[in-house]
Amino acid sequence: MEHIRIDKYLSVACKISRTDAKKLIKGGKVTVDGKVIKRAEDKVCVGESQVLCDKKPVTYKKHIYILMNKPSGILSAATDKRVKTVVDIIPDNLKRDGLFPVGRLDKNTTGLIIITDDGDFAHRVTSPKSNIEKCYYTELDGELTEEAKNSIENGAVLADGTKCRPAKIQMLTKNSVYITISEGKYHQIKRMFGTVGLGVNHLSRVSIGKLKLPSNLEEGECVEISPDELKLTIS
Ligand code: URA
Repeated sequence: MEHIRIDKYLSVACKISRTDAKKLIKGGKVTVDGKVIKRAEDKVCVGESQVLCDKKPVTYKKHIYILMNKPSGILSAATDKRVKTVVDIIPDNLKRDGLFPVGRLDKNTTGLIIITDDGDFAHRVTSPKSNIEKCYYTELDGELTEEAKNSIENGAVLADGTKCRPAKIQMLTKNSVYITISEGKYHQIKRMFGTVGLGVNHLSRVSIGKLKLPSNLEEGECVEISPDELKLTIS
């Protein structure tokens, strides 16, 4: 059970500064389990104590998990001096300190990306040991022959000699596929198709584990998901 200071609880839950949280506490606006609390350093039990501010319930979330349909042209990074990042385009109502994308998509790749402030979760998802499958819709600049498909499915050997794990490919048309991989090397899909002489015209991630890109989420849009929904990713 996690105990945290009431001023921190309020500042995170209400997205206000610690100073403003302290003012609310001093002003007698905050109750914990029915009692007015006056000391900012008093602790509350996350998920157990009932905290009200101005008689309205205040819920503290230790971490936040956001699904984004990443648009092309946006960097999957927390900050960048020149280019807009996925964190920059999160709407204010979901913004909080410490957000970063889980793993990387290339600047021109679209689709599902998770943004969070939970480092342990991010580590579990990105670690190759977790074997989490990521599926991408891919349009190629030429025809994928049966032989080329087999060579990638059996584990492509990249130009620098790196051996990839076996991949799964589902043909959609002669030059568009779903490809599923369970690791995340730099430019991996593009380099895998490069080994059979094909370029990638369009790449979009459609799922991470069992977590699918919601069909109604337009490029650039976000939705918050609960830790329970998120378990789909790593189950
Ligand atoms: N593979 C790539 O080549 N690019 C991505 O963005 C993701 C996987």
